[in-house]
Amino acid sequence: MTLSRRRFMLGTAAGLIAVTHLKSRAFAAALKSSGLKDLYRDDFLIGTVLSARSFPDKETTLLDLISREFNAVTAENAMKWEEIRPQLDSWQWDIADQMVDFATRHKMHMVGHTLVWHSQVPAQVFLDSSGQPLERDALLKIMKGHIETLVGRYKGRIATWDVVNEAIEDDGKWRQTSWFKGVGEDYIDHAFRFAHDVDPQAHLIYNDYNTFVPTKRDAIAAMAKKLKARGVPIHGLGMQGHIGIGRPDLTELEQTIEAFADAGMRVHITELDVDVLPSVWEMSAEIANRFEYKPEMDPYIDGFPQEMEEKLADRYEALFKIFLKHRDKIDRVTFWGTSDGASWLNGFPIPGRTNYPLLFNRQMDPKPAYNRLAALKLGK
Ligand code: XIL
Repeated sequence: MTLSRRRFMLGTAAGLIAVTHLKSRAFAAALKSSGLKDLYRDDFLIGTVLSARSFPDKETTLLDLISREFNAVTAENAMKWEEIRPQLDSWQWDIADQMVDFATRHKMHMVGHTLVWHSQVPAQVFLDSSGQPLERDALLKIMKGHIETLVGRYKGRIATWDVVNEAIEDDGKWRQTSWFKGVGEDYIDHAFRFAHDVDPQAHLIYNDYNTFVPTKRDAIAAMAKKLKARGVPIHGLGMQGHIGIGRPDLTELEQTIEAFADAGMRVHITELDVDVLPSVWEMSAEIANRFEYKPEMDPYIDGFPQEMEEKLADRYEALFKIFLKHRDKIDRVTFWGTSDGASWLNGFPIPGRTNYPLLFNRQMDPKPAYNRLAALKLGK
């Protein structure tokens, strides 16, 4: 199932076509009442995250910006196990409900993130009352109950679910998570089947980072093909898209888009941001890793130089040229945040830095990178 049938939900912006020939100041004015989502409406959805701090309607400037620029939203943390179900018998629906209401009100494509993951899940989920690891059947029962309750609550209102997150290592091997160790590799099959049984209309995807690494790319594509061959209801693959300003080479990323589409999967760019700060390691988004703060790793604390703004804009433009080239394969491009000030990359993998990975600055004004993505569609 592709997402096209859901596109009816999106606002129309027919008038925007008329501005394609206007000069930049004029199109900036035109964009005030519409946004990137309208420019890319024939290509793919344009998404961002919703964060708990914005609710209940606290960050109205941000929420207005989000509803103008984006037509897809993902809960950044609010639907992760430790947030929505901190104890097995206690569900915290408040924030997630408000996010789903916001998305529904604005006719946005809501993405649920994430049902089965090794991070941000309480350790006791995997243990019995005496602290021993749960056996396969007990663990599957917990997984089933979790998915039934969560997917069931938002049935028909969450269009896409990140069903399983980060099951494969960069070398292509299975990540040795408690799910994997307790259930075996078919935990993935079960997760997708449970979700599909509850909401057969939902678009179900597998999501991971570093999908441009060839060994990881191949393993994910092979896994998806096998799942499909077994009749597992998996519809797409998410490329998280946490990348650096210089790495990876974008041809590697393009090869992943092609490989995932060849595996019969719709492609989602699920968590796009471009880290502009010095890197302490090979690219990764394993959230358990943290490094010590050092001033030399935080060079733009007093501002982001113009030449770096242009470099970031170049990077985003090159990326979006690839996305547009493969628009037939891509359903959605979601940024992992709206304004730089709220990006998780200010705290990861080194706490307390000043990063500039997104399209809007700390005052929520569009950056050169934003203008470049708009210009790509306006034919400038
Ligand atoms: C991040 C959030 O942005 C942070 O606020 C949180 O502290 C840690 O998780 N891969 C994912 C996302 O799938 O859920 C992670 O989000 C980033 C890496």
